[in-house]
Amino acid sequence: MAKPSLKASPQGAQVAKQALLRSGLTQQELRSQVGCSRQPLTNFFKGDAIAQTLFIRICEHLGLSWREIADLPPSPAEFVALSTENPTADLRSTPFDRGADIALPYPPPSNGTGQPTKIDLGTAPNLTTFYGREAELKFLTQAILQRHTALVVLLGLRGMGKTTLAIKLVESIKQEFDHVIWRSLAYNPPPPLTQLLADLLQSFSNRDIGSLSQAVDDRISQLLTDLRQNRCLLVLDNAESLMQDHALAGAYRPGYEDYRELFRRIGTERHQSCLILTTRETPREIAELEARDFPVSLLSVMGLAENDAYQLLEAKGLGDRTYWNTLIEIFQGNPLVLQIVAATIQRSFGGQVSLFLKQATITTRQIVDLLDQQFDSLSPLEREIMYWLAVQPQPLAFAELKELIDASGADLLDALESLLRRSLIQGEAAFTLQPVVRQYVINEFTQQQLSLELTHVRNSIQHLLVQNSRSAPATEQ
Ligand SMILES: Nc1ncnc2c1ncn2[C@@H]1O[C@H](COP(=O)(O)OP(=O)(O)OP(=O)(O)O)[C@@H](O)[C@H]1O
Ligand SMILES: [Mg+2]
Repeated sequence: MAKPSLKASPQGAQVAKQALLRSGLTQQELRSQVGCSRQPLTNFFKGDAIAQTLFIRICEHLGLSWREIADLPPSPAEFVALSTENPTADLRSTPFDRGADIALPYPPPSNGTGQPTKIDLGTAPNLTTFYGREAELKFLTQAILQRHTALVVLLGLRGMGKTTLAIKLVESIKQEFDHVIWRSLAYNPPPPLTQLLADLLQSFSNRDIGSLSQAVDDRISQLLTDLRQNRCLLVLDNAESLMQDHALAGAYRPGYEDYRELFRRIGTERHQSCLILTTRETPREIAELEARDFPVSLLSVMGLAENDAYQLLEAKGLGDRTYWNTLIEIFQGNPLVLQIVAATIQRSFGGQVSLFLKQATITTRQIVDLLDQQFDSLSPLEREIMYWLAVQPQPLAFAELKELIDASGADLLDALESLLRRSLIQGEAAFTLQPVVRQYVINEFTQQQLSLELTHVRNSIQHLLVQNSRSAPATEQ
């Protein structure tokens, strides 16, 4: 009989790569710790099937819950049926189960009260069109309804479709909850925690606001009581509004640090609810909770798959199909950017994608605005890394960056992790930029001749720009 095998889901493989980076281990070191050869480890990170026991061992060494990483069949029962080799030992010893103990018991997957779900979507946008995202929806539905994840983070660049995905998810699973509450944090300034808590507590049970304690901790405790007594799906959209600009990703802006305690308690205390955050950067402690096997899930929202992006371009009435692939590739399937670009092509290029690709610099004004916002919040060290990665056509390894940049290894690692948390760079052992981001950074560089903090690397970067101009992607001309 064939040995039971497991493979990582696309998102799981990504999470595993990030965990490897966080661990500071090379693949070779991980191999010797786990005790396996090169091929199965490569297969693991690629999302190919490997022996189930080895899969679980690798996850344990990376401090991950294997159930979060694996591309599991629809129900746990089916999975158990797959496990023919001492399955219960594996299941019991997984880190996830330690996490699950914290939050059990859960009710069956329906609100079970006989009462209709109370839905308070606040300012959530209406969903008009929705394409694809089957894998993400499957992953999230399993995480929330089967694995009872208490805190789910949808992380991604601006316009990648986090809010849209969250709305679709809420629509498809809302019946399983007593309450569904959606709140946006995208205000300037965002709501202080005490105000948000008052709003949530009122939404739960029409409490008189005057009867609430003034102390934030008491209000968090009250909310936790509600989350224990009711099965609630709570969405906080645009949580990056809570984060500090010009600092490494994941630090709170002054006056908003108490949100840390809210997220920590929801992620670690026993209750039967789920909080979904959408954000362009992840609060640091959430990544830590995930690494410590609390029931916390982080999903990186990437661009639309090619077929789904095709549908989007079709709906925008774009012709010239031959070049759609190029367009989707350049903009990494970012649905917001594709919509903007499609409109620009219609308006200014008579609908001809080829003309746009030939003539336009890809950073049209609106796209630049999108990236300006992301770029503005970077620390000086993060900016410097971005510039170096922009001028290098090949991915740069940590050691190579260390040689180029005058910073301690620890600071550099923090900054790289921060950029990964912001989804601005990609890679594990070596790092690179998405094409549209690369183009933006190069434009920024040539227009501004680098900002003051980068003067000491200006000459060498200019030199590299000249050297690399031949090997730069076609869209950067
Ligand atoms: N799956 C999808 N199908 C169709 N359109 C989509 C999809 N995902 C996103 N879009 C469209 O792309 C645009 C951006 O999506 P959305 O607002 O969800 O991005 P976001 O990641 O939440 O951005 P931000 O970081 O600014 O909050 C919206 O106009 C939305 O309608
Ligand atoms: Mg959004």
